[in-house]
Amino acid sequence: MSLTDELLALFGKRVTRDAHGLDARLHFFGSIPVEDGTAGSSAGEQSKPVDVATARAKVVALVSVNGGVGRSSLVTALSSGMQRLGESVLALDLDPQNALCHHLGLDSNTPGLGRASLQNMQWAQCRQAGFAGAQVIPFGDTDTQQQETLQGWLMREPDWLAQQLSGLRLGEHQTVIIDTPAGNNVYFHQAMNVADGVLVIARADAASLATLDQLDGLLAPYLERERAPAVHFVINHLDEGNAIQLEMVEAFKQRLGAVALQVRGDGAISEAQACSADPLDSRAVSLALDDLNELSRVVKALEKRR
Ligand SMILES: Nc1ncnc2c1ncn2[C@@H]1O[C@H](COP(=O)(O)OP(=O)(O)O)[C@@H](O)[C@H]1O
Ligand SMILES: [Mg+2]
Repeated sequence: MSLTDELLALFGKRVTRDAHGLDARLHFFGSIPVEDGTAGSSAGEQSKPVDVATARAKVVALVSVNGGVGRSSLVTALSSGMQRLGESVLALDLDPQNALCHHLGLDSNTPGLGRASLQNMQWAQCRQAGFAGAQVIPFGDTDTQQQETLQGWLMREPDWLAQQLSGLRLGEHQTVIIDTPAGNNVYFHQAMNVADGVLVIARADAASLATLDQLDGLLAPYLERERAPAVHFVINHLDEGNAIQLEMVEAFKQRLGAVALQVRGDGAISEAQACSADPLDSRAVSLALDDLNELSRVVKALEKRR
């Protein structure tokens, strides 16, 4: 039995359209007690039906079950790459970890959408300049209490993100690229609720392969919708000289029934981050440059679903 077969036997034999993932999601929305904070009452006052037809910007969400696979790095690179392809990009950090501001060289105290939402303020006030002319709205600094209050609010308001995007009055030629926290959480579901396209980010390792069943369950309710988002898998940080990783790529291919997009590992990506530099500006980024540009073209070509 090859390593690929063993891996598939271990992790990948079936596509989960079963109750597991769906139940997990319903449990997630349905059974956690909701904080009755001030944000909730603001939400109640604001709450009106969202005319999704007016929220015309294209929305692409980067998601993963595991952390540390490169979601924030790829949101950063994509925002620059797509802007360079002539798109008008807004990068949105929906992760309370607030890491995107570090990738983009912004101070972590930069005001963001977390507190703005809690204070019932417009997100437009939090727009910042990103790389290559792209814009970014950071999550911003929040404490645990604020995060819990916001989380409780979002559980009650599945259309929260749709409303906020509608309030930004984005044009139909704009693209929103959303960074999400790893795993099954309110931000993941908010992003999936509005996504035209989804990039599932993974590493070429057993840990990422093992998440695919869970991912199927998480994605299933959205893929069953009439206007389902397009989903692409991206294997990031790939070392083509590593035989085990190449076996993993093959295992992903067999499990997914398609070749995942690939971004090679390139030390210059983390170096660019350390200097708050645009990875696509860095002459040192050579291995991954073509991959990042190709990924930008793929995302540019994604079509709106609504
Ligand atoms: N293609 C890549 N090549 C080299 N390093 C990478 C690559 N993608 C991400 N990294 C590094 O991996 C680490 C985790 O990336 P990050 O984007 O913060 O992950 P996530 O947002 O999924 O938690 C960072 O140190 C980043 O510099
Ligand atoms: Mg991140």
